Amino acid sequence: MIVTIDGPAGTGKSTVARMLAERLGFEFLNTGAMYRAVAYACLQRHLDLSNETSVGEVANSLEILFSRNRLLLGNDDVTDSIRGQEVTQSASIVAANPIVRMRLVEMQRLVGRETSLVTEGRDQGTTVFPDAECKFFLTASPQERARRRQRELEEKGDFISLEDLMEQQELRDRRDETRLCSPLKPAPNAMIIDTTEMTLSHVASYLEQLVQRACPA
Ligand code: DC
Repeated sequence: MIVTIDGPAGTGKSTVARMLAERLGFEFLNTGAMYRAVAYACLQRHLDLSNETSVGEVANSLEILFSRNRLLLGNDDVTDSIRGQEVTQSASIVAANPIVRMRLVEMQRLVGRETSLVTEGRDQGTTVFPDAECKFFLTASPQERARRRQRELEEKGDFISLEDLMEQQELRDRRDETRLCSPLKPAPNAMIIDTTEMTLSHVASYLEQLVQRACPA
């Protein structure tokens, strides 16, 4: 069984998807981390991110592996290195590259073929798993999303103003929503859930109820 959770950054997708996967006893797939890993590898190689061919070659050559909630690029654990500001901005650029998307979508479908999955991203319900049994699309107000990102960065010792975060967020949203290849949008049969006023554990319990109602065991 596949449960997809899509939506823009800061809506709580990753945390909720991880909690929901735990409750259901499913695997959890964080596809944003895969785009971040490609961006990280390109930055390490000092590539021009607008060069579709060379960025695509890097994506095709990478070995990306999740192991116990850590992300490995070959033998390197890059889980923490991919969360910084530079990778965040760069990931939204490489995510518009069709060669990168083709490669990562193929990897994501392989995972979904082998196991029951809660998978989160931007295109999981629309492009990657159009036949998923349960599809959710999370939203939240731009202010609340930026506040969540600010808290996440503060926990790592990075202090960035809400205004700057809102500006960066708007730019990334625009890129994600307007790209030609798999733009960010809800699948027609996705349930849309506004998380602005909810705690993330409340969202996870709510989604668990909805999954159980849609697909009773
Ligand atoms: O969810 P995130 O912030 O970790 O995602 C990083 C970038 O990757 C973001 O710009 C959106 C993009 N992305 C995507 O285009 N498709 C996905 N399935 C997941 C993420």
